[in-house]
Amino acid sequence: MSKVTVVGAGNVGATCFNNLAIKQVAGELVLIDIKEGLAEGKVLDMYQTSTLMGFGCTLTGVTNDYSRTAGSDVVVITSGMPRKPGMTREELIGVNAGIVKEVVANVLKYSPNAILLIVSNPMDTMTYLASKISGLPSNRVFGMGGALDSARFKGYLAKALGANSNDVDGMVIGGHGDTTMIPLTSKASYKGIPVSQFLDEATLKQIAADTMVGGATLTKMLGTSAWYAPGAAAAMVVESIINDTKKVFPSCVHLDGEYGQKDIYIGAPAVIGRNGIEKVIELKLNDEEKQAFEKSAEAVRKTNAVLKEIGAL
Ligand code: 2OP
Repeated sequence: MSKVTVVGAGNVGATCFNNLAIKQVAGELVLIDIKEGLAEGKVLDMYQTSTLMGFGCTLTGVTNDYSRTAGSDVVVITSGMPRKPGMTREELIGVNAGIVKEVVANVLKYSPNAILLIVSNPMDTMTYLASKISGLPSNRVFGMGGALDSARFKGYLAKALGANSNDVDGMVIGGHGDTTMIPLTSKASYKGIPVSQFLDEATLKQIAADTMVGGATLTKMLGTSAWYAPGAAAAMVVESIINDTKKVFPSCVHLDGEYGQKDIYIGAPAVIGRNGIEKVIELKLNDEEKQAFEKSAEAVRKTNAVLKEIGAL
């Protein structure tokens, strides 16, 4: 029987957990938080939907007691502060680095064989940090950002096309930041047909721009960062791990020469299965995209460097 733990019972963590429960992704699901009663309360509330939604996995909510997470196959880390309107994800590094460090240590104490999926922001840097401090092989530590950004990209494309969003395909690679994301417009398609056959260049540029600030737009509306799509995206990546579905999700992965980059965690398409990252796919990028990727990697490295400055690494 598979076991999945979600650390952090805030909006994103709880939404991820709820999707995992409804889809019965694992036999046992644990939600853990530092705030007394929060995970317990949310899990009890969700449990009371089980007869309505028709799911039957074991759900546990706990405060701080990591022994209850023991033997998890996958641990999703969503802990930390979400951003407030006007904030960048990068501004969260000071607070969230300490939290992520502590969580990773606690998780590995009880689940040394787990695959870690990092969602906490700034996500690319938090994934790099989790990898460095855990020493786990790179297939077992990666971040969720591209799955969410791609979902937003496909949504904006579908709206402009007047299409069913499930008929649209598209990917966002690069960093999970307002200026580091790279929506791959050249590869986006509507039922396999390049979107450039339906949408003019100005519209496509606007869609890419809207995608890049997709999270910030929602933060402005909601007063805090979004949760439905982030939670669903994380749950779908977990499902691909647990059920070994080998779906491709742009994910924050370790690059070892791919895309001309080394010693960095950044968004690139990857096959996700029971071993976590089964394969990083190296896309053929055009010159503009290559340049954007280099710029994005440079920005991510700059944020990673802050980890040393603040003594987190
Ligand atoms: C977002 O883009 C939470 O970073 C996440 O909404």
